[in-house]
Amino acid sequence: MTDLRNTPVALPSQGAPFAIRAERASDVAAREALLDACFGDNRHERTCQRLRDGRAPAEGLALSAVRRGRLIGTVRLWHVSAGGVPALILGPLAVEQSCRKLGVGAALMARALAAAIERGHRAVILLGDAPYYARFGFSTAKTADLILPGSFERERLLGLELQDGALDGAWGMIVPTGASASKARGVRGRKSARLVPHAA
Ligand SMILES: CC(C)(COP(=O)(O)OP(=O)(O)OC[C@H]1O[C@@H](n2cnc3c(N)ncnc32)[C@H](O)[C@@H]1OP(=O)(O)O)[C@@H](O)C(=O)NCCC(=O)NCCS
Repeated sequence: MTDLRNTPVALPSQGAPFAIRAERASDVAAREALLDACFGDNRHERTCQRLRDGRAPAEGLALSAVRRGRLIGTVRLWHVSAGGVPALILGPLAVEQSCRKLGVGAALMARALAAAIERGHRAVILLGDAPYYARFGFSTAKTADLILPGSFERERLLGLELQDGALDGAWGMIVPTGASASKARGVRGRKSARLVPHAA
């Protein structure tokens, strides 16, 4: 299993290293501010948001990048059915403006994909810029017959098979299948309560 405790990532030339770790509840305010800055106030109206509304991210697949104790990047993956084929949808991925081109985005992607593989997930889909995501293996090769619940640019719907053939026959609407956010909070709350004695 991927170890998501703070793992320092050396920066080749500039500044302090950053770490990738599991997202925490205390990240919420900084994460929301980062997403507002990156995607604007109307980000909740984007088509991919329809796949996230009211849902919890897939277990273990919400990650934060932190530098000097400050959140500088985020990525999440979500359960979907891609025309009947189980998959994850990745997004949003965002890195604070002042920390870009330092490999933070690549580190978030690498860690997220490794964690998805280790958890047995078979395919990842996203809506994004092919020139960026091609370096991680994403392409339109297996997404031509998929559609999203809203308007989208076909050339930005990209897929990556974590297991060969995972997106074979993926045809039709991509729909959310993850746990509801409130249920997931309840489960986590109960888990935390059970964990309290161990934390002492
Ligand atoms: C995309 C993003 C997450 C990349 O983060 P990052 O930490 O700068 O990424 P990395 O350091 O791993 O990679 C940087 C490289 O990707 C390139 N790149 C960044 N965004 C790109 C894009 N949309 N298309 C093509 N290349 C892109 C950079 O030019 C840079 O290239 P270089 O290595 O040749 O200098 C960041 O630019 C960001 O948050 N953008 C705003 C939100 C966004 O667009 N999210 C993705 C949705 S498609």
